[in-house]
Amino acid sequence: MKQNEYLNKIIPGDALSILKTLPDEIVDMGVTSPPYNKGENKKGWLVKNVKYVGATDKLPEDLYQESQIAVLNELFRVTKDGGSFFYNHKIRWEKGEIFHPIDWLKKTKWTVRQEIIWDRMIAANIRGWRFWQVEERIYWLYKPKGKNLIGEELKAKHALLTSIWRFSPARKNSHPAPFPLSLPIRAIYSVMDEKKGVIIDPYCGSGTTLVAAKILGHNFIGIEISKEYIKHANERINNFTVEQKYVNEEIAKHFVTKTFKERKENGEFTGKYRVKNNKSEDKQKILELFSYGKV
Ligand SMILES: C[S@@+](CC[C@H](N)C(=O)[O-])C[C@H]1O[C@@H](n2cnc3c(N)ncnc32)[C@H](O)[C@@H]1O
Repeated sequence: MKQNEYLNKIIPGDALSILKTLPDEIVDMGVTSPPYNKGENKKGWLVKNVKYVGATDKLPEDLYQESQIAVLNELFRVTKDGGSFFYNHKIRWEKGEIFHPIDWLKKTKWTVRQEIIWDRMIAANIRGWRFWQVEERIYWLYKPKGKNLIGEELKAKHALLTSIWRFSPARKNSHPAPFPLSLPIRAIYSVMDEKKGVIIDPYCGSGTTLVAAKILGHNFIGIEISKEYIKHANERINNFTVEQKYVNEEIAKHFVTKTFKERKENGEFTGKYRVKNNKSEDKQKILELFSYGKV
């Protein structure tokens, strides 16, 4: 496929088939939430399960996991060395058997750089078999560059946001399973910082990742199977300025009063300081250093 056929567009069709038509190493990073294979007939006490228009979400689990591995390996191929992919999923149970995303992520070509907990604070389906599952997972996947298997360090203003991301589910979105705009904004802004590049979402739904990419000044590639959601996503992309304020709110959370380098240069506390037998004082110093509590 040529660049003008895929850049800043939503390509209609099946994620795996479309990915296979894209050239190698054209993407800097991606964010997605695939269909979770949750079946379509199960109910919780509050609402019916997610049902997509124009796509099914019901495969035998082994086939589902194989198809996710194939999609993730194609994403690996189209991503540049040193690139990242943020994969949102959740732990599921089927007749008592646990399905954890790490089961199939470890079978892909990606390095799993981090598991982030997304605390949604609420979830639609609630039954008494387990405690109310209000969290999902976000996997930061990394494509090694040469001998560098762990990638570059995040800037302190991003790294200090912690591995628990607390965002309520998206509101005012007619798609049945969107993530909030803050989620791709946090992922993209943290990894790309001020650099500009190409961001992909192979299951782009209502276009949340693409709106985030556009507002942050990146090029994007979207793939989506449902015509209805493509229409919705294109409307959002064309009116992206309406959502700017949510982006500003998220970006305002990325700050530190003084960087590690500035503290080191001034001979101030850099984290190596230890107070024997006084852990609370130690903790206080660390909190002050990082202006913790700002989010
Ligand atoms: C969890 S939703 C993504 C929602 C998106 N993150 C948003 O914020 O709107 C998953 C999307 O994958 C789409 N989908 C399902 N099967 C697909 C396939 N084989 N190829 C491409 N898209 C597919 C569904 O239509 C749905 O919009």
